[in-house]
Amino acid sequence: MFPVFLLLLLLLRSASATTFSHRTDVDALLAFKASINNQRGGVLDAWNTSNTTTTFCHWPGVVCSQHSRVTALNLTSQGLGGIITPSIGNLTFLKTLDLSLNNLDGEIPPSIARLSHLRYLDLSNNSLHGNIHPGLNNCTSPENINLGANHFTGEISPWLGLGGLSSLKVIRLWNNNFTGTILPSLTNLSALQNIDFTTNQLQGDIPEGLGRITSLNMIQLGQNRLSGIIPATFFNLSSLTGFNVAVNELHGKLPSNLGDRLPNLKYLLLGLNHFTGNLPASLVNATEIYTLELSSNNFTGRLPREIGMLCPDTLSLEVNQLTAATAKDWEFMTLLTNCTRLGTLDLYFNNLGGVLPSSVANLSAQLRELDVGYNQISGKIPFGISHLVGLNQLDLSNNRFTGSLPDDIGRLNLLQALYFENNLFTGYLPSSLGNLTRLVILPATGNQFEGPLPTSLGSLQEMTIADFSHNRFTGPLPKEIFNLSSLSNLLDLSDNYFFGPLPPQVGSLTNLAYLYVSRNNLSGPLPNELSNCQSLTELRLDHYSFNSSIPSSISKMQGLMLLNLTKNTLSGVIPQELGLMGGTGELYLGHTTFLAISLKVWRT
Ligand SMILES: *[C@@H]1O[C@H](CO)[C@@H](O)[C@H](O)[C@H]1NC(C)=O
Ligand SMILES: *[C@@H]1O[C@H](CO)[C@@H](O)[C@H](O)[C@H]1NC(C)=O
Ligand SMILES: *[C@@H]1O[C@H](CO)[C@@H](O)[C@H](O)[C@H]1NC(C)=O
Ligand SMILES: *[C@@H]1O[C@H](CO)[C@@H](O)[C@H](O)[C@H]1NC(C)=O
Ligand SMILES: *[C@@H]1O[C@H](CO)[C@@H](O)[C@H](O)[C@H]1NC(C)=O
Ligand SMILES: *[C@@H]1O[C@H](CO)[C@@H](O)[C@H](O)[C@H]1NC(C)=O
Ligand SMILES: *[C@@H]1O[C@H](CO)[C@@H](O)[C@H](O)[C@H]1NC(C)=O
Ligand SMILES: *[C@@H]1O[C@H](CO)[C@@H](O)[C@H](O)[C@H]1NC(C)=O
Ligand SMILES: *[C@@H]1O[C@H](CO)[C@@H](O)[C@H](O)[C@H]1NC(C)=O
Ligand SMILES: *[C@@H]1O[C@H](CO)[C@@H](O)[C@H](O)[C@H]1NC(C)=O
Ligand SMILES: *[C@@H]1O[C@H](CO)[C@@H](O)[C@H](O)[C@H]1NC(C)=O
Ligand SMILES: *[C@@H]1O[C@H](CO)[C@@H](O)[C@H](O)[C@H]1NC(C)=O
Repeated sequence: MFPVFLLLLLLLRSASATTFSHRTDVDALLAFKASINNQRGGVLDAWNTSNTTTTFCHWPGVVCSQHSRVTALNLTSQGLGGIITPSIGNLTFLKTLDLSLNNLDGEIPPSIARLSHLRYLDLSNNSLHGNIHPGLNNCTSPENINLGANHFTGEISPWLGLGGLSSLKVIRLWNNNFTGTILPSLTNLSALQNIDFTTNQLQGDIPEGLGRITSLNMIQLGQNRLSGIIPATFFNLSSLTGFNVAVNELHGKLPSNLGDRLPNLKYLLLGLNHFTGNLPASLVNATEIYTLELSSNNFTGRLPREIGMLCPDTLSLEVNQLTAATAKDWEFMTLLTNCTRLGTLDLYFNNLGGVLPSSVANLSAQLRELDVGYNQISGKIPFGISHLVGLNQLDLSNNRFTGSLPDDIGRLNLLQALYFENNLFTGYLPSSLGNLTRLVILPATGNQFEGPLPTSLGSLQEMTIADFSHNRFTGPLPKEIFNLSSLSNLLDLSDNYFFGPLPPQVGSLTNLAYLYVSRNNLSGPLPNELSNCQSLTELRLDHYSFNSSIPSSISKMQGLMLLNLTKNTLSGVIPQELGLMGGTGELYLGHTTFLAISLKVWRT
């Protein structure tokens, strides 16, 4: 028969052990609270022992096991400041630790290595720094580690590659300053599904062994300094849904059957690398793709029509060397009209020639951004482009478009940026432009527009940049535009046929940095209101016939760095105050009424 006293002894022992363990957990929690320095009045006030009818297991953010051991600590988004106490290592039953989205700083205490049950660790979005202690992989079974958006440094391979993390499924180190290479030993992490190392300082090759971890379905290595090629093994990861290596130094061609081998891709981000070759038509078989970002590489050849059968939200192919010449080469555009979720179509800076197909007008009304600037597209803007009423940005610039801007462009009233500079546009600017009241940028330079500027442009009260230079505009300078105090960057009216004086409304341009009215037929006195333009950095008034002296108001513009008065007909004397603006410099005043003052030089 089992001796009763022994049984009693055992019971007593286990009871005291439990009490002792409780003590450990409560002490560790109170030590945690003590190391947080900004929680007076916050969630941790409730972490106290004054209510004896409840235990720490009821404290907010704390979850206990049946045996009253802390198994989860979740204090995400509580505004916690301070450090993570080393006592955290005493919560030895902890499975989940979520301290994300706080303001914690300091390092991860090495004692965390004692949390041998830890499966889920999220410290993302804090201000933690330092190296990761190799002991982290003493916790034998973490499945999910997120250290993103902190300031961690040091190499990743010494702690990540040591083994011991073989059950890791998710590792996210994004937005830190981790360095070194991705060592082949990382390929021991054989259960990995999701790896996110974006925005660090990793360099060297991508190990081909990583591509042998067949459970991988998301790989994000963007914004590092990785070089070499994408190892062929990666194209066998048939369950891959996301692949991001954008902004690195990678090169090589894409396999022509890429879409057949990675049929589950939802996003493919390869932008800002040195990839070459054709775009694979097989991408059409990756039917789930919603973001295809291949910009700023050296992709060549025609856009396969199959690209138009994809239905992405974002199709970014800008800054490559893609070509088009015939209507057939633009077929992809017609096919894309079936895609109602298309939000961004960016073909900026390629070698696309020929004529924009009229089907462009049938693209999705959801389309927010359409960029075809910097190509060699000719012909007129297709009739009906103003059906694209969802557009925030339309870039037609730097092509060979002819004809006039359609009147109904005024229907695109969500536009914030409308680029049509450096084309062969003719005719008057439509007054319906005044309906585009959200417009921030309006570059019209380098065309053959004529006639007066529409007075309706005075309604564009969000506009910060307006450039009408290098056209054939005529008439007096439009006072409505000079009334736009929103203009903070540039107002350029130079190289046209405007006549008359600078209107007194110029005094409304109190936020403007650059005002250019060079090379028109302007004449007459400068208005005194000019001195209100206290933000002006550059004022170009060359080829302006004042027929008077320089008004002393100019000298009140304290920030002026460049004043071009070359080829003016001046009379009288240079106001003394000009010299007081900043010292002596070079001043040319020939008898041919020629004057150039570069204050930049002048002031140093
Ligand atoms: C202790 O916590 C309880 C809630 O658990 C709270 O109502 C009380 O105000 C706290 N006491 C102190 C002194 O902060
Ligand atoms: C202590 O906690 C219990 C259970 O939450 C609650 O009913 C009681 O009002 C609390 N007592 C004090 C003094 O806060
Ligand atoms: C922590 O709590 C937040 C909000 O209550 C929840 O969204 C999050 O999933 C929790 N974290 C874990 C690891 O359970
Ligand atoms: C951790 O627990 C041990 C007892 O197991 C105790 O001696 C030590 O002070 C605790 N450490 C911290 C930092 O609370
Ligand atoms: C987390 O940090 C990232 C990177 O700093 C930031 O972009 C993101 O907005 C943060 N998340 C939240 C919810 O604050
Ligand atoms: C990790 O475990 C090893 C052996 O099990 C031990 O020697 C080492 O001290 C541990 N590291 C930490 C930080 O606990
Ligand atoms: C990485 O280091 C650079 C240079 O020291 C610093 O400017 C940057 O803010 C750091 N990034 C992070 C996420 O800590
Ligand atoms: C594209 O190729 C040209 C010519 O070889 C090279 O000068 C340029 O740097 C390349 N661009 C990229 C993004 O690799
Ligand atoms: C798409 O997949 C089908 C079926 O496997 C195949 O016959 C076809 O050639 C593929 N399309 C492209 C453009 O590779
Ligand atoms: C759009 O889809 C419909 C139905 O799937 C099809 O009949 C039509 O030919 C497609 N149009 C284009 C331009 O692809
Ligand atoms: C511009 O707006 C006015 C008044 O809201 C409207 O009558 C006119 O039809 C619009 N013009 C265009 C081209 O959208
Ligand atoms: C000043 O104007 C003259 C005449 O238009 C021009 O040649 C010169 O480049 C301008 N200089 C500066 C610094 O703007």
